[in-house]
Amino acid sequence: MVSIRRATVLDLMKMQDTNLHCLPENYQLKYYLYHGLSWPQLLYCAEDYSGNVVGYVLAKMEEDAKVCHGHITSLAVKRSHRKLGIATKLMKATNRAMKQCFDAEYVSLHVRESNHAAFHLYKCTLAYEEHDVEKAYYADGEDAYDMRKNFRGDEMNDVVMLEGDEAAVIEVDLTADGDGAAATKFDETPDDGGFDHLVEEKMDERNDLD
Ligand SMILES: CC(C)(COP(=O)(O)OP(=O)(O)OC[C@H]1O[C@@H](n2cnc3c(N)ncnc32)[C@H](O)[C@@H]1OP(=O)(O)O)[C@@H](O)C(=O)NCCC(=O)NCCS
Repeated sequence: MVSIRRATVLDLMKMQDTNLHCLPENYQLKYYLYHGLSWPQLLYCAEDYSGNVVGYVLAKMEEDAKVCHGHITSLAVKRSHRKLGIATKLMKATNRAMKQCFDAEYVSLHVRESNHAAFHLYKCTLAYEEHDVEKAYYADGEDAYDMRKNFRGDEMNDVVMLEGDEAAVIEVDLTADGDGAAATKFDETPDDGGFDHLVEEKMDERNDLD
C-alpha cells in the first residue's frame, strides 16, 4: 500500500533524493524548503509502508502573476512504482489544493517534447492543453511544451475534491489480489531518458528551471 499525503518539511530530503533518481532537472535543498515554507498546501508525496518516498509533486503559486495560477515545478515517481496511478493522484491532489486554498484560475507546467509518458499523463489523463512551445527551454537544448489546465466550471470535475487534512491521505493499493501481484505492474522502461547514471554529477545550481 502506498499513501499519498501532504508532504512536510521532514519529507523534503527524500523528495530530493527521488528527484535525483528520476529527472535531470535537480534543485538545491533550499529550493524545496522555499516551496515547503511558502506553499505547504501544494506539496504531496507518495510513501510506501516502510516510510520510503516513492513519488512526489513539488508545486507553487506564481508570484506577481496578473492571473492567479499555480505551477508544477517537479513531479516524479520511482520506477518501481510507476503505472499504478500514483502520479495521477499526486497531480489531482495539488491541483485541488491550488483551487481550494488559493483560488487559482489555472495551473501550468513544462514538459520535454520527448517525454511521452509525462505528456500522456498531462494531456490524456489530466486534460492539460498545450499552450505554447518554449524553444530550447531545457539546459540540453530540448524544447518544452508549456501546458495548462483551467480550473473553471466543469473542468474541475476530474480533480479529486476533498476537505481537510485527514482527507488529504489517499491510499493506492499496489496489489490486485495479494502482495505478489505488485511485481507484475512494475515499469522498468527507461522513459525518463536513462539519466540514472548521471545522479552523482547532475546537481546543477539552477533554481529557476523546471
Ligand atoms: C511521468 C511519471 C511521473 C508518470 O508516473 P506514473 O505514476 O507512472 O503515472 P500514472 O500511473 O498516474 O499514469 C498516468 C497515465 O500515464 C500513462 N503512462 C504512465 N507511464 C507511461 C509510459 N511509460 N508510457 C506511456 N504511458 C504511460 C498511464 O498508462 C496512465 O494513462 P491512462 O490514464 O490513460 O491509463 C513517471 O513516469 C516518472 O516519474 N517519470 C520520470 C520523471 C518525469 O518524467 N517527470 C515528469 C517531468 S515533466
